[in-house]
Amino acid sequence: MTDRPVVYVTRPIPEAGLELLEEAEVEFHVRDEKLPPGKNELVDRLVELDPEGLLCLLTDHIDGEVMDAARSLDVVSTFSVGYDHIDMDSAEARGLAVGHTPGVLSETTADFAWALLMTAARRTVEGSEYVMADEWETWGPKLLTGPDVHGATLGVVGFGNIGSAVARRAAGFDMEVLYTDTGRQPDVEEELAEYGVDAQFVAEDELLERSDFVTLHVPLTPETEGFVGEPEVRAMKDSAVLVNTSRGPVVDTDALNTALEEDWIERAALDVTDPEPLPADHEITRHVPEKLVLAPHIASASIGTRDRMARMAAKNLLAGLAGEELPNSAIEDRR
Ligand code: GLV
Repeated sequence: MTDRPVVYVTRPIPEAGLELLEEAEVEFHVRDEKLPPGKNELVDRLVELDPEGLLCLLTDHIDGEVMDAARSLDVVSTFSVGYDHIDMDSAEARGLAVGHTPGVLSETTADFAWALLMTAARRTVEGSEYVMADEWETWGPKLLTGPDVHGATLGVVGFGNIGSAVARRAAGFDMEVLYTDTGRQPDVEEELAEYGVDAQFVAEDELLERSDFVTLHVPLTPETEGFVGEPEVRAMKDSAVLVNTSRGPVVDTDALNTALEEDWIERAALDVTDPEPLPADHEITRHVPEKLVLAPHIASASIGTRDRMARMAAKNLLAGLAGEELPNSAIEDRR
């Protein structure tokens, strides 16, 4: 028997986080597997360990039943900014603390949204495949042409930390920047103005109609699920590029599939998909690489950021174990 608090970590996270757990002398158990635990495995393990702390990933579905399996549970800390995989009402009803990792991944995720945007616009994946298929016979005036990024109109849906970091980067490309959110964000507009970005708040319809590039940065909630469906892709320019680094279900996959098929929009670049993971033989993959660029949910995957996320998740967890306010409480942040 030990009176050290017990913590269950559903998969290996960077050492930077585990070191903090070690220093704090908690008894932590890391499930050393590549794939997430199924619900039964998770429940069984929680019953067996009865941990006070659970450190989970966005691939773990933490519902009331999972929470109840650990009778001594005080805190759930997720190694992600998104917490749509955690039943927050159930957590609140049980008085659990819930931590997440906002802020530290915003710049890295914004970098990646731009990587996808540029890839889709300038056809770099197609170019690479073209060379490797030995199809490159000569320089061609019309070979793999795409739209200009500089001078185009960028539409940012969701103007939180990540969306505004994406908008800030548009300064280097002389872009017109439109954004939409639940309300106007004058403070963020002011901050961006210092970088030479004149971000204009517009209604959703106007953003879809005017943007050359539409980039999504909303959390997944009942309100944002299916935000981009058939009416939205139809409203976009037929030359438009859609970029999604938020959550897969924010885009209706069938509607996007049809939009690419029928040329309602030019291209899409997705880091997140519905379903996720996306099987390689899913219907929508027939558009790869000409009209669709895919990535396996890696927008925050820089080495430094993943270390910062690990430390932040560990700190949230330790605060919860100590009965202290979490440095980054998802319960507070969703209010
Ligand atoms: C990544 O998608 C995250 O929520 O951290």
